[in-house]
Parts: sequence; structure tokens; C-alpha cells
Amino acid sequence: MTSKPEETAPYGSGPDATTPPATAPRGRIRTHHLREMKERGERFSMLTAYEQYAAQTFDEAGIEVLLVGDSASNNVYGNETSLPVTVDELLPLTRAVSRSVKRALVVGDLPFGSYQRSPEQAYDTAVRFMKEGGAHCVKLEGGREMTPQIELLTRGGVPVMAHIGFTPQSEHALGGYRVQGRGDTASRILDDAHAIQDAGAFAVVMEMVPGDVAGQVTKELTIPTIGIGAGPDCDAQVLVWQDAFGLRSGKMAKFVKQYADVRAVLLDAARTYAAEVKDGTFPGPEHTF
Ligand code: KIV
Repeated sequence: MTSKPEETAPYGSGPDATTPPATAPRGRIRTHHLREMKERGERFSMLTAYEQYAAQTFDEAGIEVLLVGDSASNNVYGNETSLPVTVDELLPLTRAVSRSVKRALVVGDLPFGSYQRSPEQAYDTAVRFMKEGGAHCVKLEGGREMTPQIELLTRGGVPVMAHIGFTPQSEHALGGYRVQGRGDTASRILDDAHAIQDAGAFAVVMEMVPGDVAGQVTKELTIPTIGIGAGPDCDAQVLVWQDAFGLRSGKMAKFVKQYADVRAVLLDAARTYAAEVKDGTFPGPEHTF
């Protein structure tokens, strides 16, 4: 019998060390852990992360999967959509996140135009995410049409998370932000899900898919499903952290739940700092050499 290699304990021993739930893997999260969690009926969570402190914080909180999403385009780089962000812009963010976590699985998101042309193009881009960004796996958008890419990447040692339903990189082709898989088109979502599982994907994100369709996909697949606007029956959920924790203000999608108001905390702190600088109370004697 072969024994499993020893993995480093991720929680540290200091007073801030957190304790994972009894059944959760203690060491680094691997793709097989996610599948085992599905088999046990145990849900897991995924958040986006684009830099060191958010990544460290979410890792310490026990978030199993961190996605360095192409949503960095609109959450870091100030673009309106995810389309303009480039591989060269995402790689340093991926590196920052992968260097900062002890336990979470880090997913590098392949941006628009960096993998659709051919499986070879996808492989070259994915290798950069793993070598230069330190990602543990990659995510790409698309269903059946992406099976050649998924097959080559998987054969070449790159675990692939797929992304079906509403795929933001195809916003213009899909005619805007809209729920996918309603009515007669539900079978397309199911076909896509099976195709990418058969091609070797280890998990699939389903975005803006009716809850009953996502539930059916989750039941039929053996790989974990990760929902965003896909109802409660997925094996996992993902949210963009600036939406979920309130750093971003403005209109949110229906599927976003806001767990904190980080923007209000920062706004208040920044205003207090500015006022104290103006009136001379900062820096005080305790901040002065
Ligand atoms: O880039 C991203 O943030 C994503 C999530 C919405 C799944 O793809």
C-alpha cells in the first residue's frame, strides 16, 4: 500500500490560527479534495482574490478555493467589463495570491483571447499561469466547444475548471447579461456540463443558470459544480469579494448577498484621517520620533 505524501499543516500554531471543520482537509486543498467533498455532500466556498491581504484573510477564514478572476479587469484595473484584461496584467496578481495562501486552491483565470483560438494556445497560456503565476489550476469559459482545450490541458498536467451558463467573456455574443438555460435551452447546459466533465474538467462554474437546471446538473455530474446565480443546489458557491463584502458600491446582480460594508469602513477611516491631518491632531507625540 502506498502512503500519501506528508502535507504541511496550514493553520499555523499562533493565537490567530483557525481550525478547519472536522471533515475538511487539513493540508493544502487539492482538486481531489473537492470531488471528495462532493461525494460526502459537503459544500465548499470560492471567492475571488487579486492581492496579498485579501488572499491571506480568505485563506485564514477557510475559503477552499481562491479565483484570480478575469473580473480583476473591472475590480482592479478600472475597466467596464472583463474583456480588456490581458495575461500580462493577470499574472502578477496570480503570483501575489499564490504566494500568500497556505491552504486554498488557487485558480488562474484565462482571459479573453488567450485560449479560444486553439488547444495549443490554451496550453501555452495555462503553462504561464502555472509557471509564472504559481496557479494550481486554470479556469476557462465555454462548454462543448472547449473540449479540445480541456483535453489537451488535462493531458498536459493542467487541472481545468470550466465555466458555463452566462460566460462574461462572451457578453456580446450572448446579447448581454442574461440568464442562460431557461426553458428549451436547459438541455444545452446539461450537454455542455457532461461534455466538459468527459473532457477531464475537475469542476465547473455555472453562472446565471436557473436553480432547477443547476440542481439537475449537480445531480448528474460527478465533478463539483460551483454556482454564481445558480441557486442553492450546487456543490459550492462563488462570489466576487468586492461585491460580497461591499467594497464596490452601486447596482448589484440579484445573486449577490452583501456580507459587510467594507467601503463604509474605509470611507469613514479616510475622512477621519484627512480631518486629523487638517486640524493637526495627526501625527501626535506618540507617532513622532
Ligand atoms: O472572473 C470571475 O470573477 C469569475 C467568477 C464570476 C466566477 O469568473
